Amino acid sequence: METVFTSVRDLASKAGQEATLLGWVAKFRSSGKIAFLGLRDGTGTVQVVIARNEVDDESWEAVADLSMESSVRVSGTVRQDDRAPGGYEITASQVEVIGPADEYPIQPKEHGVDFLLNNRHLWLRHGRQVAIMRVRDEIVKAIRDFFYERDFVLVDSPILTGAIGESAGTLFSTEYFDLGTAYLAQTGQLYVEAAAAALGKVYCFGPTFRAEKSKTRRHLTEFWMVEPEVAWLDSEGNMRLQEEFVSCIVGRVLERRAPELEQLDRDVSRLEAISPPFDRLSYTDAIAFLQGTGVEIEWGEDLGAEHETVLTEGREKPLFVFDYPREAKAFYMKENPEDPRTVKCNDLLAPEGYGEIIGGSQREDDYDRLLARIREEGLPEEAYDWYLDLRRHGTFPHSGFGLGLERTVGWICGVPHLRETIAFPRMMTRLTP
Ligand code: 4AD
Ligand code: MG
Repeated sequence: METVFTSVRDLASKAGQEATLLGWVAKFRSSGKIAFLGLRDGTGTVQVVIARNEVDDESWEAVADLSMESSVRVSGTVRQDDRAPGGYEITASQVEVIGPADEYPIQPKEHGVDFLLNNRHLWLRHGRQVAIMRVRDEIVKAIRDFFYERDFVLVDSPILTGAIGESAGTLFSTEYFDLGTAYLAQTGQLYVEAAAAALGKVYCFGPTFRAEKSKTRRHLTEFWMVEPEVAWLDSEGNMRLQEEFVSCIVGRVLERRAPELEQLDRDVSRLEAISPPFDRLSYTDAIAFLQGTGVEIEWGEDLGAEHETVLTEGREKPLFVFDYPREAKAFYMKENPEDPRTVKCNDLLAPEGYGEIIGGSQREDDYDRLLARIREEGLPEEAYDWYLDLRRHGTFPHSGFGLGLERTVGWICGVPHLRETIAFPRMMTRLTP
């Protein structure tokens, strides 16, 4: 059986007519003869006016002790009303409680973050969280469309892996039958590199895992990453792809998610400024700039969040920092022929203090140099034999990058902590709900 009902979003098509709505009680007040119910259904909220003399006895009894977040069915007339949020109101003829709610833990007052996260399964129902989830959904769709329209092929990479992708220090591991230890993927990159030699332009998009012992607002232990990999592309071309990609995503959200951005109080003028080209700064110049502003940092050190904030201060657009020292970056990055102390790579730093949203690089395509780097890092050589094969059988220049979905959602929504950018965040101190 299919239940026929109207969504709050589609009320305009029912103006002046009878409609049935299904949803949850987001607001309720009653004054003996008349009651007002805020009905929320995931597409919006509408006010339902329930007058004692216009509904049957059963309906009036049902609303007598209506509790917040009960699920209800409401039938009535859809009335246009310019004063109503959304422009419509329902005059009820019938109200039925489908599932009465126990006392609802989240009250319209300030709650601590731990309390809200313990109740994440319920917190998710609230307006701000709904808006963030809708923007996230739009970003995911924009990502998939961007690559589909440019003839990239989606190649899903495994989550259980035998080789370390980024750094040995942040791996989740699990026993794997008679084969020893399996690791949860930190990246799909090594696999999409293989797929790029098969298909040319590819990407993977899935959950990745980092056992990072960091409790910052920018780190999750499970996050989603989209990773394109392109044959015959160099580091400069890689940065051009990134600025087009990021601008496209932002443009799509501005175009299709304006009500959600408004609900989030996002300053959209900051997003409207995002278009190619983005500024580029070499790592070496970035260090000189930081030292010039009195920051204590030496050439060779990786940039931290506080350095990124200084570098992006006063900038409208994201900033590329390129060609980092090899010791600050992963083993697979291509040695810079013009300065072998550095590698052909870039980070992309979002404005407004949001920091790194992308890490990308041209990959080392020289067999001997790659093997030397694997040995230097003390990585288990056998596990990389298949990866080295890609340099034994028709090696080719190629580049790619990884964009962190949650960091991108956070920046676009103006939400500084990643815990609100994914439905059920996984952090060092949180595994439930
Ligand atoms: O810079 P990362 O570690 O790069 C890679 O994993 C490469 N293999 C990507 C590639 O070239 N194919 O991670 C890429 C992005 C970061 O810029 C950040 O946005 C996000 O992934 N990220 C995290 N997001 C949330 N929580 C964490 N712990 C994250 N670690 C990285
Ligand atoms: Mg990085």
